[in-house]
Amino acid sequence: MLKGKVAVVTGAAMGIGQATTELLLQKGAKVALLDVNETAGNSAKEALDEEHGAESTLFLQCNVESDKDVKDAFRATVETFGGIDIVCNNAGILNEDNWEKALSTNLAGVIRVGFVALEHMNKLTGGRGGVIVNTASLAAPVFPVYSATKHGVVGFTRSMAVNAKWGGKSCCGSLSFLFLQILIEMKTRAHFILIYYSSLLSTWQCFTI
Ligand SMILES: NC(=O)c1ccc[n+]([C@@H]2O[C@H](COP(=O)([O-])OP(=O)(O)OC[C@H]3O[C@@H](n4cnc5c(N)ncnc54)[C@H](O)[C@@H]3O)[C@@H](O)[C@H]2O)c1
Repeated sequence: MLKGKVAVVTGAAMGIGQATTELLLQKGAKVALLDVNETAGNSAKEALDEEHGAESTLFLQCNVESDKDVKDAFRATVETFGGIDIVCNNAGILNEDNWEKALSTNLAGVIRVGFVALEHMNKLTGGRGGVIVNTASLAAPVFPVYSATKHGVVGFTRSMAVNAKWGGKSCCGSLSFLFLQILIEMKTRAHFILIYYSSLLSTWQCFTI
């Protein structure tokens, strides 16, 4: 169902990012796994290669806190796979003791990756459009710093989705990755869709313009 699509997943070496990668591969997409942890990233790719073939994935060591890392990783993905259709902004940490690190990873990282992704994907500037998924968290209200970063992610995503400069067309709160899949497979009329995984406990929202 996602045959011919190319995805980039940040924080792909473990946890939700790894599971997201697996799902994208099962649906036929090619996936660039970006992660700061090189050992875990290489292991994840090796495990995926057995089932999906080495040519379906690319592991790139990338710290979402670094402009250079992110730009290099997106460039390498386009050079390898020919373009990008889906970006899963998943890399995130829970670190209430080092709030600057948490902010830099969870919020600045999402914004950084989002803008670099747009350079490659935005139809208004020659890209082929696609989907950017930004991960917030239901657990956010319990942790002040984490909560601030994840609310920032929701605000950024909503605003980008209605920002004509960037070609944003719609924004949907999503309870699950399944919902993302449905949207992708429906090929919504939006040429650029931003979806947020809401951090606001009871406010899963969906709006389209
Ligand atoms: N685990 C949960 O219950 C839960 C719930 C809701 C939302 N989330 C969010 O989902 C995302 C993934 O969570 P997880 O539980 O799978 O985390 P995890 O710790 O299992 O995996 C995170 C991955 O991100 C990578 N990473 C961390 N900092 C990075 C950086 N600066 N640059 C690149 N990669 C980096 C790590 O190396 C790791 O592979 C996070 O954004 C998290 O806030 C998690």
